[in-house]
Amino acid sequence: MENFLTKQIIQKEKEKVNYPDKIFINGNYQNSISGKTFDNISPIDGKLINKINFSQKEDVELAVKSARDSFETGVWSRSDPSHRKKVLLRFAELLDKNRLELSLLDTIDMGKTINDTYNSDLPASIDNIRWYAEIVDKIYDDIAPTPHSTLAMITKEPIGVVAGIVPWNYPLWMAIWKIGPALITGNSLILKPAEQSPLSAIRIAELLMEAGLPEGVFNVLPGDGPITGKSLAMHHDVDCVAFTGSGEVGKLILQYSGKSNMKRVQLECGGKSPNIVFADHDNLDFVAEKSAYAIFGNQGEVCSAGSRLIIQKEIKNEFIKKLIQISKNMMPGDPLDPQSFMGAIVDKSQLEKIDNYVISGKNEGAKVAVGGKVDRINTGGYYYEPTILDDVSNDMKVAREEIFGPVLSAISFKDPQEALRISNDTEYGLAAAVWTNNINTAHLIAKGLRAGSVYINNYEEDVDTTIPAGGYKQSGIGRDNSYHALDNYLQVKSTWIKLR
Ligand code: NAI
Ligand code: MG
Repeated sequence: MENFLTKQIIQKEKEKVNYPDKIFINGNYQNSISGKTFDNISPIDGKLINKINFSQKEDVELAVKSARDSFETGVWSRSDPSHRKKVLLRFAELLDKNRLELSLLDTIDMGKTINDTYNSDLPASIDNIRWYAEIVDKIYDDIAPTPHSTLAMITKEPIGVVAGIVPWNYPLWMAIWKIGPALITGNSLILKPAEQSPLSAIRIAELLMEAGLPEGVFNVLPGDGPITGKSLAMHHDVDCVAFTGSGEVGKLILQYSGKSNMKRVQLECGGKSPNIVFADHDNLDFVAEKSAYAIFGNQGEVCSAGSRLIIQKEIKNEFIKKLIQISKNMMPGDPLDPQSFMGAIVDKSQLEKIDNYVISGKNEGAKVAVGGKVDRINTGGYYYEPTILDDVSNDMKVAREEIFGPVLSAISFKDPQEALRISNDTEYGLAAAVWTNNINTAHLIAKGLRAGSVYINNYEEDVDTTIPAGGYKQSGIGRDNSYHALDNYLQVKSTWIKLR
C-alpha cells in the first residue's frame, strides 16, 4: 500500500482538515457535562491545535451506562458473526477512504512523520481490522471428551464492557489493536486515548457508526490519566481494561482492578530490548542499518525499540562508526514533509525527559558518540537528535529504564554467555534480537532470551496482525494481535448436559 505523497497534496488536505474536539457517547458527539476542556498542542511547532472536551467522572458514568445498555440488549453482543464481520469490513473501507486525513490528524497531534502515519500506521491499522473481521466466522467452539453419558460444551462469550486505555506513540494503530479484537468478539468498548493525541480516536467514532456499528457499542472519552483513565479502571461496571503505556501506570491499573471489581486487565508496558550483534555476521553494514532503524524509527518512541545495543567487543568501535554515519541521514525534520525520517517528540516534558537521561548517562560515565542535543529549536516544536551512548554498562540508568526517545545505549560483551546474561538482566521482556551467521548461536540465544518477541537476523521488520505481541516479566500481561488477543475479551463457559 506504499503511496507517493507530495508536500502539495499534504498542504491541500491540511487546509480541509477539521480537528475533532468532542466526547462520543451513545452514538453522539457531545461536550463534557462540566464544560471542562484541555489544551491540545502540536509538537511540530508547540502551538495550540484546539481545546478538547475533558471527560470527568460524570462523563465516564454516562459512557459506561451506554456501553452496558448496548451490551445487554444484544444488538451487537448477540448479533450474527457474519454481521459483525460486515460492519468491521466496512469500517476498514472507511479507514482507507479517509487515510490521508487520519494520517494528518496523528502527525499533527503527536509529531511523527506523515510518511510513517500514511505508509505504515494506516495500512497496518486497516489490515488489522480486516484480519479480525475475517476471523470471527471461522472460529469454532469445543466439545469436551467427557464420558458417554454427558455432553460438555466449551463456548466463548464476550466479557462485556471493555475500556481501552491507549498511548500516544501510535495513536490510531494502538487503539486499533484493542478495537479489532474487542469489537469482533461482541463487546462494547470505551476508548480512552492519550491526552497528547486524542484526534484520530474521536474521528473514527463516526466512521464506526457509518459502518453500521450500533449506538453505545463504541464510545470515546478524551481526557487524562488520573481523572478519566482512573475513573474507568476503578469502575464497578467495566469488565476489562486493555491498556498500553508505561509500566508505572500498568501497575496502577492492576491496583484499581483489585480495589474495585477484579476486572480483567491486559497490559502492554514497554521494554528495554536488547539488540545483540555478533562479530561473525557477514553483512555488518546491513545490521547497522536495521539496528539504527530499530532505535531511531518513530523517534525511538516505540515500546519494542532496540534500545540496548549488545555488541561483541572486537567489532564495537567499527560498528558504532557505521551507526554514526547512518544516523546522519536520520536527523529530525518537518513531520509534514514526506521526505523526513524522524519527526517531533510528543511533548515538552518527554523531550526534557530524554535530555535528562542523556545527562544522567554522561554523569554515570557513558560517552556521547553522536547526538545528545535538542534540535530545530526555532520551530517552537520538540525535536531531538539521534543519539548513541557508548561505554554504557548494564547497571546505568540509561541501560535499565525506558527512555522512549532516539537514544541508543551500547554495551559490549565477550562471548554468547555474557551476551545472554546482559540481555536478560532487565525487569522488562518485550522484544529482543540476535544477529549472527551461526545457526547454533542464533537458536541458543533465542531460546535463552526472556522476551515475548525474538528476532533472528532482523529487527521487527514485519509487524503483522498474525503474530502475537506482548511481554514477559514487567512488559505486560496477555497479548495483542493474532487469535491470542481474542482471549483478552472473551469469557469461557462450560455447559454440562446429562444425557438420559
Ligand atoms: P502513560 O502510561 O502515563 O500513558 C498511557 C495511557 O494511560 C494514557 O492514555 C494515559 O492518559 C493513561 N493513564 C495515565 N495515568 C493513568 C492512571 N492513573 N489511570 C488510568 N490511566 C492512566 O504514559 P506517558 O506518561 O504518556 O509516558 C510516560 C512513559 O511511559 C514514556 O516515557 C514511556 O517510557 C512509557 N510509554 C510506553 C508506551 C508503550 O507503548 N509501552 C507508550 C507510551 C508511553
Ligand atoms: Mg497532541
